Amino acid sequence: MRHVATTLLVILMAAFAAEASPQSDEAREVHGARVYREQKCQACHSIEGVGNRRFPLDGVGAKLPVADIRKWIVAPREMNPRVRKKAYDKLAQRDLEALVAYLKGLRKK
Ligand code: HEC
Repeated sequence: MRHVATTLLVILMAAFAAEASPQSDEAREVHGARVYREQKCQACHSIEGVGNRRFPLDGVGAKLPVADIRKWIVAPREMNPRVRKKAYDKLAQRDLEALVAYLKGLRKK
């Protein structure tokens, strides 16, 4: 019986630890892919042929540093004043960082 209690305690502690710790890289990228879909980035961009092929994002992670990827999302006019693209500056910090991590992971053309 004591054994069961100890096992339960260990499981509970592990669950709390997982809750408190930051997302793993993989979880963050999955989260980022969801933000990408929710924000409808594919209206103008494509990844692996899905979305608007006019502005593919394949390989963007190899091409741009994180800071530039972030800026293309929150302040695109600062990257190119002629681009007609709204600033996604109301995203929750956690969503934005996940989105940037997801794009940074796109390394293949
Ligand atoms: C209204 C159309 C539009 C939407 C919607 C849009 N973008 Fe863009 N985005 C552009 C254009 C246009 C460029 C500049 C492309 C170029 O110059 O090759 C661009 C550039 C980028 C770049 C840099 C690409 C590169 O190869 O240098 C990234 C990263 C990016 N956008 C991410 C996003 C993300 C993430 C979203 C959704 C939150 C999004 N964009 C939504 C139009 C859009």
